[in-house]
Amino acid sequence: MSRDNEQPRAILREDFSPFDYQIAHVAMRFDLDSHHTTVTTNLTVEQKRTAEDSQPSPLLLDGVELKLDSIAIDDRALESHEYTVDSTSLKIHEPPESFKLTVVTVIDPAGNTALEGLYQSSGNFCTQCEAQGFRKITYFPDRPDVLSVYEVTIVADKNEYPVLLSNGNQLEQGVESDDRHYVKWHDPHPKPSYLFALVAGKLAKITDSFKTKSGRDVELVIYVESHNISRCDYAMQSLKRAMQWDEDVYGLEYDLDIFMIVAVDDFNMGAMENKGLNIFNSKFVLADLETATDTDFYGIESVVAHEYFHNWTGNRITCRDWFQLSLKEGLTVFRDQEFSADLNSRAVKRVSDVRLLRARQFPEDAGPMAHPIRPESYIEINNFYTVTVYEKGAEVIRMLHTILGAKRFHAGIDLYVERHDGEAATCENFVAAMEESSGVDLSCFRRWYSQAGTPLIRLRCEYDSNSEELTVSIEQSCPPTPGQAEKSPFHIPIRFSLLGHDGAPVSLKINNRHGVSDSTVDDKELVLEIKESSNEFVFNQVPANVVPSILRGFSAPVILDYQYTDEQLVRLLTYDNDPFNRWESAQRLIKRVISRTANALKQATEPQTVLSQMQSDSTVTALVESLNHLQKDSSLDDAQRADMLSLPGIETIPDSGEPIDIDGLHVAREWLHGLLATALEKDLLAHYHAIDPGDDVDSEAMGKRRFKNACLDILSSLPDSIWLDLAVGQYRGASNMTDRAAALKVLCLSTGVERDIALTDFYDRFQENRLVIDKWFSLQAMSNTPSVVEQVNVLREHSSFTLSNPNRVRSLVGVFAMTNPVGFHRIDGAGYSIVAETVKALDAANPQVAARLAGAFSQWRRFDDARQAMIKQELQGIAQLPKLSPDVFEIVNKSLA
Ligand code: TRP
Ligand code: ZN
Repeated sequence: MSRDNEQPRAILREDFSPFDYQIAHVAMRFDLDSHHTTVTTNLTVEQKRTAEDSQPSPLLLDGVELKLDSIAIDDRALESHEYTVDSTSLKIHEPPESFKLTVVTVIDPAGNTALEGLYQSSGNFCTQCEAQGFRKITYFPDRPDVLSVYEVTIVADKNEYPVLLSNGNQLEQGVESDDRHYVKWHDPHPKPSYLFALVAGKLAKITDSFKTKSGRDVELVIYVESHNISRCDYAMQSLKRAMQWDEDVYGLEYDLDIFMIVAVDDFNMGAMENKGLNIFNSKFVLADLETATDTDFYGIESVVAHEYFHNWTGNRITCRDWFQLSLKEGLTVFRDQEFSADLNSRAVKRVSDVRLLRARQFPEDAGPMAHPIRPESYIEINNFYTVTVYEKGAEVIRMLHTILGAKRFHAGIDLYVERHDGEAATCENFVAAMEESSGVDLSCFRRWYSQAGTPLIRLRCEYDSNSEELTVSIEQSCPPTPGQAEKSPFHIPIRFSLLGHDGAPVSLKINNRHGVSDSTVDDKELVLEIKESSNEFVFNQVPANVVPSILRGFSAPVILDYQYTDEQLVRLLTYDNDPFNRWESAQRLIKRVISRTANALKQATEPQTVLSQMQSDSTVTALVESLNHLQKDSSLDDAQRADMLSLPGIETIPDSGEPIDIDGLHVAREWLHGLLATALEKDLLAHYHAIDPGDDVDSEAMGKRRFKNACLDILSSLPDSIWLDLAVGQYRGASNMTDRAAALKVLCLSTGVERDIALTDFYDRFQENRLVIDKWFSLQAMSNTPSVVEQVNVLREHSSFTLSNPNRVRSLVGVFAMTNPVGFHRIDGAGYSIVAETVKALDAANPQVAARLAGAFSQWRRFDDARQAMIKQELQGIAQLPKLSPDVFEIVNKSLA
């Protein structure tokens, strides 16, 4: 919050220089008190050896919002001329070469609303230090390349704070005075300050254990507030599965005697991988059948695994600087994606990951905040925990896996770990390890780290029936992004097959194998590796009338332009043996129908006439018939059938570049929804009645619930008489939250009393459980009704809503802005006001969450003139606030630039 006149400054990747000092050991003592915590820090400081004659440089430590109580070198208090303190740093002018530095600071955890540093949540103390929160606790070189061994003593009131935790192993505990006790922790693994953690409070725990493959017995503990103790089991099971998987697949073992997870209610993100002491948003720990949906269970499994996997990819090998963030995040997301794919349905996981990538990352990469997965500059690092760094970062790792093949990929990981264990590494170190261990030239591949933007692949086929040759030409291009007008070609792996007239893949014969990966095993699928702007592949002995199955499994994060005919798409969605491309082909047909309908509506004066004409359009007929087959196709499992039937969100329908016609696309999408409901009514009702998922939490039961609820969702666009009783019955009789929330979701669309009755019942039933009340907010905020804006406004005043909890803000205002285009973009601008007012009201208290929300405005140039003008005005209104955090400053100013 450092802006009165001066504007926040950008940090550049090229400005990196190593730190001059080594801090081998950090000893800390915390005297905990809500408003007046005293932190005593002892550092062993040693100047790194440089050239003989070089001057000793001043020691510069970071520190923000700290009260400096005292400072001493080797137990001698410094005189005021020996150091300088300002609002962000402490400088010791002429330190000796090697010394002990003692710094005492005083901080105010209860007054910390930004939830960064040491703060209180539900009366308990906890920390969040990534990326730069440690500097809000004490003066320290708060950068990830300074690695130290920590010894931490926590002293607190023994009744208020019976549990005292920090990283590593507990050394000792005891009493200090009548009412205060202490615990001392030691973490033997050198770590950067962002992985430091402390927790203190009244917490209940569940414990379990895991024996590593080399025989280490690890105690596993999950701490929660005592009323949540019955809701931790799934997280614990997930943790054990993750530990086992990392041993089985990567050979990586846990390296301490204890692994702890603590759940807190007030948390800016999902969870944090602090060494040996992960701190979680309670949303990603707490679950039972009655209060959590299958999506929640799935999320818990994947986030628990993600944080656990960071123990190696993040903690043992950390980042040299924050520009390297994707080194740990992209790789760890890839690892958690593969874990979920192995334990559940791989096909379903891939579809949901690609959906997220397209809905969130593609727009980011095409907008004002576009940045490479390894950014070149930032104003506020918290703004760069993005879908680009995380999800596109994971796609980049996945492409390496595809190009090298599993075996060489894992050899590369082994080399990377062996070389850099215990170090702060760079993305370049990672690629170099992959390159050296495989012998594959990755020079062109490195551009994925330096260039932003989603590449466009234009693929064309030409068939010569005399020679039976099929010529495939592939061109790539990439649109300009901020600061990068021209792009060089990327190294892109394109998994490729040809399906014959009967839908079966044909054998691929290719004379020149240049550009074909040798990681290919199957002769019916090749990995075409393109590295140039234009590329050509000639296949021989190709039968007539084949259809290309391109980018199978979504083998690269690109936009594919291939002019499929309707007939080709139908063949792919019916027969392709790549499950991703079956789904993809169905989606292409759906998008084709919706955008064609929206276009026709644009020109029309009589929308009803247009819509009834569209009903006999041949593409529409083909689509309805295809979906009719797919919903009963026994080669698909239930979750896949549900995927096939779910229509894409309207913002993902136009190809990038085209303006989004909110109103037309919405009408067209709703129309198609109704058309499908009418056409499939009998079967969907039959499925609905026949499927009995039971209450298990396993892939099969989850799939059944998803398909059954997808049927209900489609039926809900028919007249009330057909589905309302079903929904009411499902709501009342539900024995799990998945079914209850799904029923409530469709009831929220009804205009009758049923909506209010169910909403009131839900609130009364679960009002004690804030995570469930978040669902109650979200279900209302995402409902596509004309009055949703007014409803969200009423809910902002609700007694269960508060701006001080990030989950509340996200579940009401975040969900509204991100998942309800019809409400958010309502033509009177009232939706925009909700988001702008929330950003303004939140910025002083919690800049990180305010900045995320402000990001909802960054896409403004994709809409029509009237909406552009309104969003721009909101952005300008925020920019003019007298005091603006660097977080929101960066988002708003880059959006307007
Ligand atoms: N490293 C965390 C993860 O990916 C992300 C994280 C948690 C975070 N809390 C944060 C990032 C606060 C920035 C600020 O698992
Ligand atoms: Zn992470």
